[in-house]
Amino acid sequence: MTDQASKVKEDVLNFTIENAEQLEAFRLRFLSRKGEVPALFGLMGKIPADQRKAYGQQVNEVKNLAQDKFDSKKAELETDSTASASARDDISLPPAPFNTGRLHPLSQSLERIQEVFLRLGFTVAEGPELEDDFHNFTALNFPPEHPARDMQDTFYIRKDDEDASRDLLLRTHTSPVQIRLMKNGKPPFRAIMPGRVYRNESITAKSYCLFHQVEGLYVNKGVTFAELKETLIMFAELVFGKDVKYQIRPSFFPFTEPSLEMDIWWGDEKTGKWLEIMGAGMVHPNVLKAVDIDPEVYTGFAFGMGVERITMLRYGIDDIRLLYDNDMRFLSQFR
Ligand code: PHE
Repeated sequence: MTDQASKVKEDVLNFTIENAEQLEAFRLRFLSRKGEVPALFGLMGKIPADQRKAYGQQVNEVKNLAQDKFDSKKAELETDSTASASARDDISLPPAPFNTGRLHPLSQSLERIQEVFLRLGFTVAEGPELEDDFHNFTALNFPPEHPARDMQDTFYIRKDDEDASRDLLLRTHTSPVQIRLMKNGKPPFRAIMPGRVYRNESITAKSYCLFHQVEGLYVNKGVTFAELKETLIMFAELVFGKDVKYQIRPSFFPFTEPSLEMDIWWGDEKTGKWLEIMGAGMVHPNVLKAVDIDPEVYTGFAFGMGVERITMLRYGIDDIRLLYDNDMRFLSQFR
């Protein structure tokens, strides 16, 4: 072996490779285009013709040695993560378990409801949860002694026995947002109004001290009861499916006349039952007057539904409190 070749061979053998940096230094020194091994090949021209074959074999031997050392050290470093920087940088380790978040079932229902009404041409409006007597009751045609104003139902923040107009309360329904919308604009109005509402009821599987409603309002010239029915039926079919079985029956609300409630049939033919999903009706002329809209010119309809009720139906949940416990074992079922 020539002196140069055996010198390179020795250096290759003695070179310590214990980490990625040294591996790269090794590659640069011996194997890269300007490295010592290619340099040995470069000397070929200077070798007397009769010795070239032998020289070529020697250089090849050195080259293979260097290449093998490089390959095996590289493989070794890749499997042994502690030899390189740190375990944190080892991309071959399996990932730590990672729980992705998901929407609360109430938010999922709310999104679905909103999607349906946006398709039907409604916009979304919001209002405050802390209301006054005018927006929550008076403008909605509740007589002064109406039982809904009672302390048993309403969470009063401030109650003035002499002057109800000074009362402050947590809204008991989303209907006050209708009033705010109509007071601040000009007809036509076509909006839904989602939000939290509060009622001072005892907490059971069926009722909670707060829940969510989606109010809907359409006011324009010549809005008819038939349009209200059509809208509600379309809604029921889009949320519960084309084959949903529903019924519409007369009801009473101070702010609508006539008023109705919509039920859907839940369960199979024999064991199922009717469940109420919303109240609705034609906006009462007194409500339009309270917000300076002429009921001789404009008519409208309004509806209001409970998001908890609809969520419980959609997912077969039998206790409303589950929706407020934030128990991950429950919530993680709603992907
Ligand atoms: N606000 C009513 C309730 O809370 C629901 C409703 C809204 C009824 C709009 C008719 C029209 O029960």
